[in-house]
Amino acid sequence: MSQTKPVRITETILRDAHQSLIATRMSTERMLPIVEKLDQVGYHSLECWGGATFDASLRFLHEDPWERLRKIKDKAKKTPLQMLFRGQNILGYRPYGDDVVEYFVQKSIANGIDIIRIFDCLNDLRNLETAVKASNKEKGHAQIALSYTLGDAYTLDYWTNIAKEIENMGADSICIKDMAGLLLPYKATELVTALKSAVRIPIQLHTHYTSGVASMTYMKAVEAGVDVIDCAMSPFALGTSQPATEVMVETFKGTPYDTGYDQNLLAEIADYFRPYRDECLESGLLNPKNMGVNIKTLLYQVPGGMLSNLTSQLKDLGAEDKYYEVLEEVPRVRKDFGECPLVTPSSQIVGSQAVMNVVAGERYKMVTKETKDVLSGKYGKTVKPFNPEVQKKCIGDAEVITCRPADLVPNELETLEAEMAQYKEQDEDVLSYALFPQVATDFFKYREAQKTKMDASVADTKNGAYPV
Ligand code: CO
Repeated sequence: MSQTKPVRITETILRDAHQSLIATRMSTERMLPIVEKLDQVGYHSLECWGGATFDASLRFLHEDPWERLRKIKDKAKKTPLQMLFRGQNILGYRPYGDDVVEYFVQKSIANGIDIIRIFDCLNDLRNLETAVKASNKEKGHAQIALSYTLGDAYTLDYWTNIAKEIENMGADSICIKDMAGLLLPYKATELVTALKSAVRIPIQLHTHYTSGVASMTYMKAVEAGVDVIDCAMSPFALGTSQPATEVMVETFKGTPYDTGYDQNLLAEIADYFRPYRDECLESGLLNPKNMGVNIKTLLYQVPGGMLSNLTSQLKDLGAEDKYYEVLEEVPRVRKDFGECPLVTPSSQIVGSQAVMNVVAGERYKMVTKETKDVLSGKYGKTVKPFNPEVQKKCIGDAEVITCRPADLVPNELETLEAEMAQYKEQDEDVLSYALFPQVATDFFKYREAQKTKMDASVADTKNGAYPV
């Protein structure tokens, strides 16, 4: 090997790492002191926004996610900032009108995002069109992520054909998003080799350590020519998070894939996060159960997060003894639903329906609203057709949608603006409200109350008293 091709790294410590290990609870205050050092490493990008971070900062941390983004941008002058975006669902759980999607993309880029990673839980590219176009228009980097999954339909031909479509859609790069850690090392060789010969745009790989194979998978993928890999600084790496940044950097040192990153600088960054990891372990926020290898994800092809959801649903129903029956029902439901990938929100929908099928003692005797919506085409098109008998049993003769689902969602920005006008302090507030109406309203009230408190203490100071 004479040609050198340094592999690039996206650092996930500010987004996926803490979403996967500590329920997305890292605060802006915790992040800011280390951003300048992270910026010096020379990362391909710093993933710091989107996914569950938006909801968690409003709901649990009483923080404005837009302000977090601006503050990070202020300190990360060189490194592109990256976010995760759920296609037409943006960062929420329902499809939004095109005007909301466009405005969200516009404001994300205006506030500091450079790379938008966009995915759909069914890999229905029509659900990504609006976000990709908006991103192109705002001169952002539009990356389309393919939700990686296994099954008869997911052949190398399937992946290369969809990759070509993505390139033609105007995406700037492709990510293989392996949320469950199912991509095995030698399969990664095959997949990356096939994709690299099918398209010209860069290929990035995102996986989780859940099943224990992730760093080997990265090694094979890098040897096969993958351009970028997603890693997390060691204090919040492994387990349900990503492979450790320092380990991958050291692995490729002196090879044609050498990142050139400074290990001393990485060590300083790890030193910053380590005491916080200890704190999280002590408080129970970081559960040692999430840090080992969960081999069940490989056996049942179910993401780690979905396994813990199933356990808690069964516990609520007093049916914990049905755990293994439900695990065996999951792939059958998935098959009935056109063999869809299992990622938010399809993972929750398939999981809940599997629980109902087992607990009710008859398949599809009880059906969730979301199951009906999936089988009516409201989430989009699946790789294989739905099971017609199941479809009939769940939705009867109701109409099945075949168009792009968002074509049936009218523009809604004006209505949303009118609903929240009394709370508006910045343009972006309407977008927080659009995604999480109740949670955002609570946050706006909290913000108002904080301000009143501050004004009162300033008035007190003027009167010669001390602020409390
Ligand atoms: Co992830």
